[in-house]
Amino acid sequence: MSHLMDSITPVGNDTGRGDAPVTIRAARLDDAAGLLRLMRKVDVETPFMIYGKGERSLSVEDTRNLLVEAGLVRGLAMFVAQVGPELAGYTLAVSGGLARTRHCVRISALAVRRRWWRQGLGRAMLANVEQWARGMGAQRLELETMAANDAAQGLYESMGFVVEGRRRRAFLVAGAWMDALVMGKLLED
Ligand SMILES: CC(C)(COP(=O)(O)OP(=O)(O)OC[C@H]1O[C@@H](n2cnc3c(N)ncnc32)[C@H](O)[C@@H]1OP(=O)(O)O)[C@@H](O)C(=O)NCCC(=O)NCCS
Repeated sequence: MSHLMDSITPVGNDTGRGDAPVTIRAARLDDAAGLLRLMRKVDVETPFMIYGKGERSLSVEDTRNLLVEAGLVRGLAMFVAQVGPELAGYTLAVSGGLARTRHCVRISALAVRRRWWRQGLGRAMLANVEQWARGMGAQRLELETMAANDAAQGLYESMGFVVEGRRRRAFLVAGAWMDALVMGKLLED
């Protein structure tokens, strides 16, 4: 995965994390099983992921194939946050594939296990994505979040994203409509 940064250590408060070392790094092929477990756990810890309980039908092999692709395709990156031996968070980013969209990087997933919330992991992974995107010459980061997801919106705004639009009733969560916020950040500096 030569196109990915190896690791950075997040800056954040250490509450609850003890002395466990924290690493943000590119996901490796041998993370496949742990990563799939992590995704499934986060899916049920929050209503703010797209997948509902039992809907993530990906197999370990599919996850491994995604990681193989991330290692081969320049515009695809998956980073994980590791606390001690445990995978605590992940993010997936993909750039546009055409001349007219290649400057855009879409963050299609970002999640941290509940027990590690508010300890700087989300911010650190996002910073890694931004650094990776800048390294590819990207000009724009973009993502979507559920309108009620105050934590995600707070994180993105604190990293310079602005709300660019709203998709009304984009999600149906536990029987209630939920709008999607379209957010973006220009990387012109
Ligand atoms: C959103 C999420 C990734 C944030 O990760 P995190 O590691 O807890 O975030 P950080 O500790 O890096 O927080 C960075 C900043 O985000 C904002 N933030 C984080 N959690 C917040 C909350 N509950 N309420 C308001 N702002 C919040 C704050 O500005 C925070 O900075 P501060 O702690 O210095 O005040 C995490 O809450 C999560 O995984 N949620 C479930 C999945 C999800 O919603 N993913 C996003 C889908 S778009």
